[in-house]
Amino acid sequence: MATQKPGGFWYFILVSSFLAFLEGVHFLSGRTYGDPEENKRILSLVASKSHIIFAVLPVAFGPFQFLPIIRNKWPLVHIWFGRLYSLGVVGGGAFALKASWTANTYRLGHYHFMALTLCWLCTIVQGLRAIWRRDIATHKRWMTRNFILSYAAFVIRVHLIIFMAMGLTDKESLTIASLSSWAPNLMAAELWWYFTDKKTNIN
Ligand code: HEM
Repeated sequence: MATQKPGGFWYFILVSSFLAFLEGVHFLSGRTYGDPEENKRILSLVASKSHIIFAVLPVAFGPFQFLPIIRNKWPLVHIWFGRLYSLGVVGGGAFALKASWTANTYRLGHYHFMALTLCWLCTIVQGLRAIWRRDIATHKRWMTRNFILSYAAFVIRVHLIIFMAMGLTDKESLTIASLSSWAPNLMAAELWWYFTDKKTNIN
């Protein structure tokens, strides 16, 4: 995403993140594509409902943070979108510390969600600390890691559809998807940076 004009991949991220945003807002409205009883249960839990209210912000604003044209031409837009993004992650993450333990998964899924929550909170702290000391390269990397975690909101729904189509129950699917929606993407990014950094250092 280093060029001025966004490529097809960016548009894909934009549209899929927007779908996650819409699904979050739709869920909060009390309507759902899933089990209405499960929707009611989640919305009756203050931590889970608050988590969703905050967590729709990162998927709404995140994709725009990767556009060099916004960063270069309208830095204030990047700053304010970044503040709203970070507010969403900090609020969504803080409430997920509680919501992780009420999710409809086996015990393992609660640990998966908790690991995701802690990574979400730690990476935003690192990303913000880096920009506060004006270290742009480090800021970009931590914020990219953080967005990969925010983007789990979209990936988890795709994985749930696939796992349930394969015949797994809701609970089994969510237990697996609570890890598969973010860990492989994060590892792929780390490997990508490992090899590209190595190549840059050689040249
Ligand atoms: C990346 C860190 C995130 C973690 C750790 C996380 C964790 C969780 C957990 C544990 C639940 C279940 C709550 C319960 O059953 O009581 C949940 C539900 C939900 N979260 Fe998140 N979430 C994250 C990000 C997001 C984002 C970015 C969105 C944006 C839309 C989002 C939207 C929702 C929605 C709509 C639900 C309820 C519906 C459902 O389970 O399909 N979450 N989240």
